[in-house]
Amino acid sequence: MLLDIHGLTKNFGGLIAVDHLSMSVGEGQIVGLIGPNGAGKTTVFNLITGVIRPSAGKVEFDGKDVTGKSPHILAKSGIGRTFQLTPLFTDFTTLENVVASYYLHPRSGFWDSLFNTPKYRHNEAYALEQSLKILDMVGLSKVKDERAKNLPHGYQKMLGIARALAVQPRLLMLDEPLGGMNTDEITFTMDIMAKVRGLGMTILVIEHNMQILDLCDRVVAINFGQKIGEGSVKDIRNNPDVIKAYLGEQNVA
Ligand SMILES: Nc1ncnc2c1ncn2[C@@H]1O[C@H](COP(=O)(O)OP(=O)(O)OP(=O)(O)O)[C@@H](O)[C@H]1O
Ligand SMILES: [Mg+2]
Repeated sequence: MLLDIHGLTKNFGGLIAVDHLSMSVGEGQIVGLIGPNGAGKTTVFNLITGVIRPSAGKVEFDGKDVTGKSPHILAKSGIGRTFQLTPLFTDFTTLENVVASYYLHPRSGFWDSLFNTPKYRHNEAYALEQSLKILDMVGLSKVKDERAKNLPHGYQKMLGIARALAVQPRLLMLDEPLGGMNTDEITFTMDIMAKVRGLGMTILVIEHNMQILDLCDRVVAINFGQKIGEGSVKDIRNNPDVIKAYLGEQNVA
C-alpha cells in the first residue's frame, strides 16, 4: 500500500473529529473518501499532510512512519494536495502559481536559490518547462499569464490541481475538486483525473458530488469521524449505513 493509516484520531477539545480511522490506498488506485458535511474528511487530509497532528494513531507513506511530520517534509516525500477553498497566490499569474509550487520539490535547494548557483539557473529553466507542461495537461495554457484572482472559479480549482501536480507527488489528494463547478467543468476535471491516473498517479479524493464514484476503484465512507463503509463503488451504493448517513442530504444511488 502507498498510504496506510491506522487508528487515526483527532480531538478538538471535546469533539472527536476523526475517531480511530484506519484505511489504505494502493499504488495506482483512485480512492474516494465520502461522508456528510462535518464528517471529518478534511481533518483526515490535514492529519495525513501534517497540517495538524493526530491525537492518536499512525500515518504510513510508502512503508515509512510519517506521523506528525511537517507539511513541507510530507510534500518532499511525495504527497501533494489541494485545499477545499483553494489558497492560490492570487496576485501571481497562473504560471507563476505552478512554478512557485514546483519549488517545493527538493530538486532545488535553498542555498542554491540564495546564491543563484548554476544548478539553480538550470533548474529555473527546467521548472518553467515542467510547469508549462502541467498547464498544458490540465488545459490552462491559454490563461497562463492571467492573474489567479481574475480566473473563473472552475479554472481556479483546476489551478489548485496543477499546483498539487507541480510538487510531482506520488499521491495526489484532492479535497472536493468538483465543488462549485458547472457540468462542463465537472466533465473536464474528471477527464483530467482519469488522465493523471493513466500516468500512474495514485489519487485520494474527497467529494460530495457522487459522479466521482465513476472514477473510483474503492471508496471509504465516514460519518462522525468513524468509518461506516468501505469497498467497491457497488458495495458503497448498497451499504445501508451509507444510505442512512446521506438521507436528507444527498442520494448516493
Ligand atoms: N481546527 C478545528 N478546530 C475545531 N474544530 C474543528 C477544526 N477543524 C474541524 N473541526 C470540526 O471537526 C469536524 C469535522 O470537520 P471537517 O472539516 O473535517 O469535516 P468535512 O467532512 O470535511 O466536512 P465538509 O464536507 O463540510 O467539508 C467538524 O465538526 C468541524 O467543525
Ligand atoms: Mg471538508
